[in-house]
Amino acid sequence: MAKLLHFFGTIFILLSLVVFPIIGKKDENSFEISINKEFMSLKREKLSHFKFYFHDILSGTKPTSIMIVPPQKNTPKTGFGMVNMIDNALTLGPKLSSKIIGRAQGFYGLSALSELSLLMIMNFNFIEGKYNGSSLAVLGRNSIVEIVREMPVIGGSGLFRFARGYVQARTISLNVTTKDAIVQYDVYVLHY
Ligand SMILES: *[C@@H]1O[C@H](CO)[C@@H](O)[C@H](O)[C@H]1NC(C)=O
Ligand SMILES: *[C@@H]1O[C@H](CO)[C@@H](O)[C@H](O)[C@H]1NC(C)=O
Repeated sequence: MAKLLHFFGTIFILLSLVVFPIIGKKDENSFEISINKEFMSLKREKLSHFKFYFHDILSGTKPTSIMIVPPQKNTPKTGFGMVNMIDNALTLGPKLSSKIIGRAQGFYGLSALSELSLLMIMNFNFIEGKYNGSSLAVLGRNSIVEIVREMPVIGGSGLFRFARGYVQARTISLNVTTKDAIVQYDVYVLHY
């Protein structure tokens, strides 16, 4: 009898080891349960560096960056208040004709009264290789007169779930007439 109890006891312990990490601990009065990282296939966090080019095209018949709010009247020369909605191509090389690996979708606005500085809120939506369908969310301050601007990566979807990190943006060409710009983005991101 004792042997039998011991046997079922062992079975029960083994089962709990398998089942509890999967279903987690459940509190009847809660809408939250803790679950195991491994169960969600989140094994090892890694650090990746992505490099691509962002094309802010305001001119021509197919602009991908469109002013949706003009700068307010009687505001300083910094264009304070202007907002652009973007669906900009992200390419492997610096030329717009090079391979498109995703798009930057969102908007930016001139958010400083006495300097040229943007608030940028956008998603990098990737369409290439294993990252096809995954996206990174970027939200930050872009002081466009500086050579290197840093903005936080605040999250992501798909392969970028739980992502965090930062981007460095460098303008590599700007047409002063059309305001079209090509910006190099170096993205450093921790993800699973
Ligand atoms: C990316 O995914 C979409 C939707 O699943 C698919 O139609 C497209 O062909 C994929 N692109 C590449 C380059 O794999
Ligand atoms: C800027 O754009 C205008 C209009 O497309 C073009 O004529 C001019 O050559 C461009 N300037 C530079 C430096 O590329």
